[in-house]
Amino acid sequence: MNFSDELVKWYHENKRDLPWRHTTDAYIIWLSEVILQQTRVEQGLPYFYQFAGAYPDVNSFAAATETDILKLWQGLGYYSRGRNMLKTAQMVRDGYGGKFPDKYNELIKLKGIGEYTAAAIASFSADEARAVVDGNVSRVIARYFGISEPINSTTGKKLFQATANDLLNKKNPGLHNQAMMEFGAMLCKPKNPACGICPVRLGCYAFKNNATTFLPVKINNVKIKQRFFNYFLFTNHDSILMNKRSESDIWANMYDLPLIETDSLLPLNEVLTLPETVAYFGREPEITAVTAIKKHVLTHQHLHIRFITIVKQPVRIKPNWVFIKVENLKKLPLSKVIFIFLDNFLN
Ligand code: ADE
Repeated sequence: MNFSDELVKWYHENKRDLPWRHTTDAYIIWLSEVILQQTRVEQGLPYFYQFAGAYPDVNSFAAATETDILKLWQGLGYYSRGRNMLKTAQMVRDGYGGKFPDKYNELIKLKGIGEYTAAAIASFSADEARAVVDGNVSRVIARYFGISEPINSTTGKKLFQATANDLLNKKNPGLHNQAMMEFGAMLCKPKNPACGICPVRLGCYAFKNNATTFLPVKINNVKIKQRFFNYFLFTNHDSILMNKRSESDIWANMYDLPLIETDSLLPLNEVLTLPETVAYFGREPEITAVTAIKKHVLTHQHLHIRFITIVKQPVRIKPNWVFIKVENLKKLPLSKVIFIFLDNFLN
């Protein structure tokens, strides 16, 4: 048996029963793939059911508001993905007669659909012979063939794609792709791969050379930005003063609290005497609670966040600040930190 046949055999015996594996509907497969780029299967499943339940087809998705989508996406992070999904659904409704494309060359033109997603949808829904390369597939290839080129360098990406193309079973590309991905996710895991029960270990470079911990190689080229957020909590009867975030920063168009951002970690008394703070909250705001600073880790940013509870109405209100009734809060898309803070505060 060749490599693909071995993995497909393994897949038939070991695969998980997942809802998107029972359909060839390109729209449903697109939903699942976008969610799964953001999170692991166990965490992605409830999101998948919510989206597929609320929007059973692309036209119902396209009719949603951005707030609806962001609200359902809440907690997955990388919110531009959720926003892009809405644009994609609208493109499909307006430009493709509401029929989600299943050909790679059409899919790749859609917003937020890159090579991986286009190959996944085209192969799973129409059995088009396109090899998928995601983190799981690259890891399997790097280990089996002993490729130490970084999986995320330009050369590496080309090499891994070319190798995946060579391996692809052109008669059964959908099945082959699912098998590669499932094998990477469940057996050839990043840590503690199950080499003892691996059907292809005798041909595997990493197994033979005891090198699974060194492969794949990944270059770390993200520079992490440190940001310092001082949030102000002001409540008035049954309302909370919230801030609608701008289009151009993290958590675009979502809601948080009035915010003073600083370039460095400042003690509270220095935050309170900054001109911006004084302009909005007055010279000596009456503070009833301050949280310890907590770090919140995003992909490219580390946020250092403290919450300051004040009891007097701010002296000036920014245009994006709105009083929201507590009972309406659950309708707004909130980032995870804000959701957790408000949830604790209100309960
Ligand atoms: N991760 C990304 N796509 C997947 C799929 N179709 N099945 C399981 N895990 C996945």
